[in-house]
Amino acid sequence: ARATIGLTGLAVMGSNLARNIASRGTTIAVHNRSTEKMTRLLDEHGDEAREQGGELVGCESLEDLVAAIEKPRTVIVMVKAGEATDAVIEDLVPLLEPGDVVVDAGNAHVDDTLRRQSALEEHDLHFVGMGVSGGEEGALNGPSIMVGGSEHAYANLGPVVESIAAVVDGTPCAAHVGPDGAGHFVKMVHNGIEYADMQLIAESYDLLRGVARLEPAQIAEVFHGWNEGDLESFLIEMTADVLSHTDADTGQPFIDVVADAAEQKGTGRWTVQIALDLGVPVTGIAEATFARSLSGHTDQRKAVRETFGSDTHDVEVDVEAFVDDVASALYASKVVAYAQGFDQVMAGSREHDWDVDPGQLATIWRGGCIIRARFLDRIREAYAENGDLTSLLVAPFFADAVRDGLAAWRRVVVIAAQAGVPAPAFASSLAYFDALRRDRLPAALVQGLRDNFGAHTYQRIDKDGTFHTTWAGDRTEHEA
Ligand code: 6PG
Repeated sequence: ARATIGLTGLAVMGSNLARNIASRGTTIAVHNRSTEKMTRLLDEHGDEAREQGGELVGCESLEDLVAAIEKPRTVIVMVKAGEATDAVIEDLVPLLEPGDVVVDAGNAHVDDTLRRQSALEEHDLHFVGMGVSGGEEGALNGPSIMVGGSEHAYANLGPVVESIAAVVDGTPCAAHVGPDGAGHFVKMVHNGIEYADMQLIAESYDLLRGVARLEPAQIAEVFHGWNEGDLESFLIEMTADVLSHTDADTGQPFIDVVADAAEQKGTGRWTVQIALDLGVPVTGIAEATFARSLSGHTDQRKAVRETFGSDTHDVEVDVEAFVDDVASALYASKVVAYAQGFDQVMAGSREHDWDVDPGQLATIWRGGCIIRARFLDRIREAYAENGDLTSLLVAPFFADAVRDGLAAWRRVVVIAAQAGVPAPAFASSLAYFDALRRDRLPAALVQGLRDNFGAHTYQRIDKDGTFHTTWAGDRTEHEA
């Protein structure tokens, strides 16, 4: 055995991770169910790996893979989430020995990770749920890596993942975020935030086009400009790239020939489902997830469009001022989306006793991952100043930013409604903010109604206890 680590599943993400690991001078054993992918990887990149001081050791079977790795072994599984992952784990377990570590590097649901972790524990094996973000390019050149699992597992895995991750200010964007499901949980929330971020960007584009009547190429310039300031991020930069692209077939802007039904593989949906169970109002992520779902209901869209027409209403705007307003609305809504996402991370952490450090998380999301942004460094600073922040919204830096952008945020939501251009994520994040700061919420009325129709009881603001009013009788109040 001579490999430090092994990896099975050599589709693009797996191959790129393996190449990245080898490029840091590490010997990695590689395997794929169909041998062809493995031999191709060695043919195409074996020499390059050796030149970089590492090595890709080709293995034709899982037995060979296990035999090639030094003990205690660490085996990364990079296959499709769900049944395919279970099948590989099942084949691996009998080949491994106590103390060995199985790493699932896919996007898994935390319940699956917890289930696999307990199953492997029965064999004295360690299971790691590892979130890897950054897409294919990131996997090859430096992703952000969120490891969940035991200290024992991280002892061997840690140096390898820290060597391949993106680096920001000398700090690798990889860390041991907590035990068992913590890594996959935070990666799921990362993706939820990614959904919200993209929806806010999409709404910004739609408003600049539908209200300010800018063309895609002009909007690309706007995003290009935004990427020079506080909004600087990977997704903003990429938006400029997508919007400036011209379709080769038709000569049309690429954005105009793409079907407008957004897909999803599930991590956004899981984030919202789990948020409902945890009782965390991740309204921005939910709006983003539902917006994708709505976009796919083409029959309903057609029927409603045909019934009501698809006209928007002209709203007189000063284009330059409107562009600045949209930037402010985008920034403020983004603060809300991240505040909600971090709330969910901390709620999950409390529920499972993971002790996730939000500052550490912001640190490893600064580079490599899809939501990487200048913004994340501000979040890191906010938690460094106060580890017990109630909400990112009240961290001094973000509170100032929201205060500065608030009037613009309101104008954008009003204009969107007047124009008939949907801006669900902008509107719901503003409503979230206003609800949190409201002195009295109409939840009091909801409580009154619940008590009236169902004797569901209520609490009072002026004394302790639980009460019920005899609504159908003499309307006296009784302590329940
Ligand atoms: C990443 C991405 C990656 C993938 C997601 C989103 O962090 O590198 O989030 O994991 O793009 O699965 O995919 P969907 O939009 O299809 O749900």
